[in-house]
Amino acid sequence: MSDAGRIGDNVVMQQHAPRAPLPVPDRRGLELDVAGYERLTHDVRPLLGIDLAQYRPQQVWRRVVGFATSHGCADPDELVARARAEPDLRAAFREMLTINVSEFFRDPAVWERFRTQVVDPLVASRQSVRVWSAGCSAGYEPYSIAMLFRQASPTVRVQITATDVDEKVLAVARAGRYATTLMGGVSADRRARFFTPTTGGYLVNPEIRAMVSFAQRDLLRDPMPSGFDVIACRNVVIYFTDEAKAKLYRGFANALRPHGTLLIGATESIAGAKALGLDPRSPGFYTRAAPPGGLRSGPRQNLAAR
Ligand SMILES: C[S@@+](CC[C@H](N)C(=O)[O-])C[C@H]1O[C@@H](n2cnc3c(N)ncnc32)[C@H](O)[C@@H]1O
Repeated sequence: MSDAGRIGDNVVMQQHAPRAPLPVPDRRGLELDVAGYERLTHDVRPLLGIDLAQYRPQQVWRRVVGFATSHGCADPDELVARARAEPDLRAAFREMLTINVSEFFRDPAVWERFRTQVVDPLVASRQSVRVWSAGCSAGYEPYSIAMLFRQASPTVRVQITATDVDEKVLAVARAGRYATTLMGGVSADRRARFFTPTTGGYLVNPEIRAMVSFAQRDLLRDPMPSGFDVIACRNVVIYFTDEAKAKLYRGFANALRPHGTLLIGATESIAGAKALGLDPRSPGFYTRAAPPGGLRSGPRQNLAAR
């Protein structure tokens, strides 16, 4: 079954919490097979729409071999052949590669710093704020951001664009319905204020849903939008190549308004941030660096929900 389980007619996320590691095949199978990886890259592009050439080969190979073994396939070639014929396996394969594990207020200490260092100053100085949650998975991150802004100010207009490459998680995000087991990060106060209890779960209230629009977008392929005060891209790029990461971070720097903030994952850091146009501010937080001649906003491109 897919991870979008059903309670009556309601789609409810059932398993975006951390999972058990994949079974480990024998060590020889884990070593990168360069020709095998080239075949995999060639086959996966049309099959799943993912460009593995921009991912780190050794890490991806290990994950794919482990996934193939756990699904009874001798090797990645057999996995690809079966995934062509079996839609459920294809969906699981895609999900394994994009890794959409997430939760509300993931890494709470980071969100507390985000509230004091970013949200409070913005609502104190602005009438409207634009945020991009890039790699938003099933909506936990953009809805968490919406709740923080709404708690900080009932009146500031906040537009959160939430994008992900995976349509399946976006469908869950748009539904805004989460099983009770997935609500661990949401305090009783926030549940009461921002959710409506439903059978076996909670539905995000219209006030919060109205702040977020979801769109399908591949960070490795699609044009970069711009004009944001905040971009959150957390736990998304871990398997991207260094080159792909650098291109993306440079793009984020240009997509931020002057003094805008980029938030990355708690265990991530940006190598050579300054050269990419980002000033490190505190762990996980970067601000758009001012160029020598002063800051100019880039051309704005709106993200139409697709
Ligand atoms: C581990 S989740 C992170 C979710 C959330 N940002 C968080 O930190 O909890 C990674 C998400 O990135 C998405 N993703 C992976 N590759 C992507 C790409 N090339 N473009 C856009 N989203 C991508 C996945 O589909 C997945 O939902």
